[in-house]
Amino acid sequence: MSRHTPSMSIMVAAARKAARGLQRDFGEVENLQVSLKGPANFVTAADKKAEKVIFEELSKGRPGYGFLMEEGGVVEGADKSHRWIIDPLDGTTNFLHGIPMFSISIALEREGQLVAGLVYNPISDEMFIAEKGQGAFLNDRRIRVAARRELAQSVVATGIPHIGRPDHARFNTELGVVMNEVAGVRRMGSAALDLAYIAAGRFDAYWEAALSPWDMAAGIVLVREAGGFVSDLKGGDTMLKSGGIIAGNDALYRKLGDLLKKAHKQA
Ligand code: IPD
Ligand code: CA
Ligand code: CA
Repeated sequence: MSRHTPSMSIMVAAARKAARGLQRDFGEVENLQVSLKGPANFVTAADKKAEKVIFEELSKGRPGYGFLMEEGGVVEGADKSHRWIIDPLDGTTNFLHGIPMFSISIALEREGQLVAGLVYNPISDEMFIAEKGQGAFLNDRRIRVAARRELAQSVVATGIPHIGRPDHARFNTELGVVMNEVAGVRRMGSAALDLAYIAAGRFDAYWEAALSPWDMAAGIVLVREAGGFVSDLKGGDTMLKSGGIIAGNDALYRKLGDLLKKAHKQA
C-alpha cells in the first residue's frame, strides 16, 4: 500500500475529477470522428476544461501555490516556494483520433525541486504516483524499473517529431543508431505515460527531444522513485529547460545515452 501525503491526496482527487470530464469527452470524440467538422475544436475545449478543473481543485486544496500549465501558462502564487506543473491532457493527438492512450500529468515543485508526480490514464484507470523518498506506485502497488540490462532485449520508447516540430534529421539519425541495437522501439504518443511506463518496468529506456516541462515533470519523479535514472540528452540535469530527456534503469539509461552520443557524432 502506498502511504502518501495530504498534498498527494489533493493531486489524486483533482486528477480523478478532471478525468471524469475527459472520459465523457473521449466518448464524444469517438462519435465525432465520423462527422465532417471533426473533433478538433471539441478537443481543445475538453483540454481547457480539464485544466480548469485541476486548477480549481489544487487552488482550493493549497491556496497560494503557483502554477505552470500548458494552456494557462504561469500563474504566480503568494507562496513562492511551491509550484504545480500541469499538463491536463498529454497525448492530444491520440485523444483527437479516438486512441485511448493519453494522460493527465501533475507535478509539485518545492524550492525548485520536483517532489511529487502523478500520471493518470483515465481510460485504463491506471494511476501512477510518486513522492520524493517514498517510492513509486501504480494503483497502490509498488513499482520498479525493469531489471533488463542488455540493449538487445530492451524495448525503448521515444517521441517522433512531426510537422511543425524541430530536428527531423537529428531524430532520423538517432533512430538509425538505436533501432539496430534494441528489441523494439515504441512511439505511444504521451511523454508522461512513456515515463510512467519506464517507472513500471514496461519500457526499459526512453528518449525524446523538444519536450515542455509539463510533459515530463511528473514522470521524472516517477522514474527516480522507481529506482531509475533521468538526464537531459547530454547527461546533464537540464531536462525541464532543454526539453531533452533520457530515462531508464541504470544500465539501459547509460547504454542508450552512449548510443545517442554516437548518433550525434554522425549528425
Ligand atoms: C505531446 C506528447 C507527445 C510528445 C509531444 C508532446 P501533448 O504532448 O507528450 O508524446 O511526443 O512532443 O507535445 O501536445 O499531447 O500535450
Ligand atoms: Ca504534453
Ligand atoms: Ca497537453
